[in-house]
Amino acid sequence: MPSRYTPNQQKKNPFIKWSLIIGSILVAAAAAAWFYLQSIDSPANIDDAATNEVQTSQSPGEEPPEGDGAVKEKAQELETAEAPEQEEEEKQEEPQEEPKETETKEKAADEAEPTKDATVYSDTVELPEEPAVINGILLANKQHPLPETYAPGEGKEARAAFEEMREKALQEGVDLVAFSTYRDYNRQKELYNGYVAKDGQEAADRYSARPGYSEHQTGLAFDIGEAGQEQHWASASFGDTKGGKWLAKNAHKYGFILRYPEGSESITGYMHESWHFRYVGKKAATEIHSKGITLEQYLGV
Ligand code: DAL
Ligand code: ZN
Repeated sequence: MPSRYTPNQQKKNPFIKWSLIIGSILVAAAAAAWFYLQSIDSPANIDDAATNEVQTSQSPGEEPPEGDGAVKEKAQELETAEAPEQEEEEKQEEPQEEPKETETKEKAADEAEPTKDATVYSDTVELPEEPAVINGILLANKQHPLPETYAPGEGKEARAAFEEMREKALQEGVDLVAFSTYRDYNRQKELYNGYVAKDGQEAADRYSARPGYSEHQTGLAFDIGEAGQEQHWASASFGDTKGGKWLAKNAHKYGFILRYPEGSESITGYMHESWHFRYVGKKAATEIHSKGITLEQYLGV
């Protein structure tokens, strides 16, 4: 059977065959060399990567670079080995910082303002030897009682100021009457006990001072009404009368303040009394009036 190949083709076949063999050997050799090189883990490369991570970890805010576990472990080793002082510093700082923080918290708790409620009587069982005078102003409230023997009588300066105010009010058609001013310890005791018997202690404590705690005992408190308007004396309705409005607007010019303003019971200790005025002098009265504050707030107690 004749061959399908020509003699020329038969000559070419051995050449192609050897070319393929030699080419395959070269490719196999190159592949072997590549695999061999890949299998070698250069320590220099690891150290470079680890150093990079250490540097990166020292830069706050930067994401650490991605890497395999071995590189990260090595980096941690280097970090530990290369920065012993830094870790030492951190170890030393920890116990110092802890107490500081605790100290600050304890200090803040100590300095925190206690919740004040002026309606609650002071824990003081016995009345003091001396009255409380703050910035030259005598203070009497549920936290600042007076000695039982404190009996100055009606304040002369306060009375003079009231008379001057009365003259001015009269010129404007308001006939003011001071229907209760100085009351000594025993008079206050009678009044208070009467109110307790009538309304109960809880209710009485909101509008009447216990003996030793009344501002009337200082001689500087004036309960004011209008002549011929007795139905409004010592009544909330007085605030809505012509006399009550005149006083609210002008009393400070003569050194008097509305001592128990509306909405201030937790500060003054007593419910609103539109008729109870306290002489504190023109300067303090004007400031208290213009700021719309209480005597307690003015004195910072
Ligand atoms: N009414 C006032 C609070 C007093 O009794 O002194
Ligand atoms: Zn009064």
